[in-house]
Amino acid sequence: MKIGLIGFSGSGKSSLAEIAKRSGFRTVDTDMSLIERYGVGEFSSIIDREKDFRSMESEVIKDALNSDAQIIAFGGGFHRSHKSFENVASSSMKLIYLRTDFDDIVERVKDRPLFLKLGIEKYRVLFEERMPLYAGCADFTVDS
Ligand code: S3P
Repeated sequence: MKIGLIGFSGSGKSSLAEIAKRSGFRTVDTDMSLIERYGVGEFSSIIDREKDFRSMESEVIKDALNSDAQIIAFGGGFHRSHKSFENVASSSMKLIYLRTDFDDIVERVKDRPLFLKLGIEKYRVLFEERMPLYAGCADFTVDS
């Protein structure tokens, strides 16, 4: 059985996965996998080449789903690749949505490149668009 952590950037998915890892669980953080496989330069492609980023992301997601990982932390935009979304949604894993208030999110991500690129109002639109999507595919929701 696998558990997937979903939610917006800054909701605590990576932190929770890190705690689980230190506690002995087999974990994958798909953002970290992408950096390890393609390099930090390619990770930055989210800023101006989203299509390339999503195609690399869908590869690491596919591998994470096929691995023996018990807990997988997905990037906040995993659903933006249709293939990734289908793979995650059709897997038998339990998805936990880490739900966080927008103001808390902003406090946590204010120095991250995507936030700096979009600015607060576009970032809010993204947040509002995505909340129902996370809630719709989650098996459980936890306020974080
Ligand atoms: C993204 C979220 C990021 C990362 C990339 C794109 C997004 O992951 O995958 O910057 O589209 O919201 P986190 O949710 O782990 O920050």
